[in-house]
Amino acid sequence: MERVTVELAPPYDVLVGDGALAEAGSLVAGRRKVAIVSQAGVADFHAPTVTTALHAAGVDADVFLIDDGEDAKTLATVDDLCRRLADWGLLRGDAVLALGGGVVGDTAGFVAAVYHRGVAVVQAPTTLLAQVDAAIGGKTAVNLPQGKNLVGAFHQPIGVLADARTLATLPPREFRAGLGEVAKYALMPEGAAVATIVRNEADGVLARDAEVLTRLVAASVAVKARIVGADPEERTGIRATLNYGHTLAHALETVGGYELLHGEAVAVGLVFADALAGALERVDTATMDDHRALLCSLDLPTEVPGEPDPVQLLEVMQRDKKASGGLTFVLPQRQGDGIVLDAVHDPDTRALDAAFAAVGVRS
Ligand code: GLY
Repeated sequence: MERVTVELAPPYDVLVGDGALAEAGSLVAGRRKVAIVSQAGVADFHAPTVTTALHAAGVDADVFLIDDGEDAKTLATVDDLCRRLADWGLLRGDAVLALGGGVVGDTAGFVAAVYHRGVAVVQAPTTLLAQVDAAIGGKTAVNLPQGKNLVGAFHQPIGVLADARTLATLPPREFRAGLGEVAKYALMPEGAAVATIVRNEADGVLARDAEVLTRLVAASVAVKARIVGADPEERTGIRATLNYGHTLAHALETVGGYELLHGEAVAVGLVFADALAGALERVDTATMDDHRALLCSLDLPTEVPGEPDPVQLLEVMQRDKKASGGLTFVLPQRQGDGIVLDAVHDPDTRALDAAFAAVGVRS
């Protein structure tokens, strides 16, 4: 088992590895009740481990299911869940444990942020995507018809349990999509340890070797922990560098119809960002080729399937809630032997055309 600390006030630990879920009891020992929020499929597999650990620690625990899918991330689910927690008698000193992927983590995390003006939350992510990204850093939110994640709060967990065993049962495509965020860390300036594992042990990663995955997840979490520790509420631009590859990815997801999961869209978005950086002479061709090869080694897509309309994608990218007006991209810039990432606003049309061409979108 590996332990990564997120250095905030108060700090919290992310436990990564086989058997992490069984540590739930020690995280909440001394509390009266813990509400395990989950979804039916996930709970069938993993709730018994958590419940047993909580009962062994003398904590009253029960499971509260929400529906599957992004459609469940609504204020209606929050309302329903809060009522059920109140009926069960959950009080301010008690805790919520989010057992599932991003939908559960976001929704249960937001409920924990507002229920009784805030109760403790443990994040127990069961997908690769949630283990390396969503469960770390305290972002919680639900959707409105007007857009994704529009109602939310920063609410840091008291601990995160990323159990490698939960990854064994993920559908192949969902697992591979999670590697899109891992690849992003590998290509970030802080991600040398992630890159080393990917470059030397891609076969073990793709075969889901538990020991390799534990090191890979821990190294990825360490990158996110460092960035969140430096800029917890995305105020200085440091946390915004986590959006490397995400401007096009969000647009592809919003426009829809390209059948890309989030992590797959991020992989394509990374190629797009690199090509944009290349056209702006921030990085050379060797860097772009090296990054693309790393994505390919993880079996990730590097082109948009189908024939998307670049004008529509540009319109959506301009409306991105993180863009603060105009078009904003997090792009690499070569500096000495490495790269740095920073925000670039409103690149010229020639550079955008080159970036679209790099991911198979013809203007
Ligand atoms: N997923 C980006 C962040 O947590 O800031």
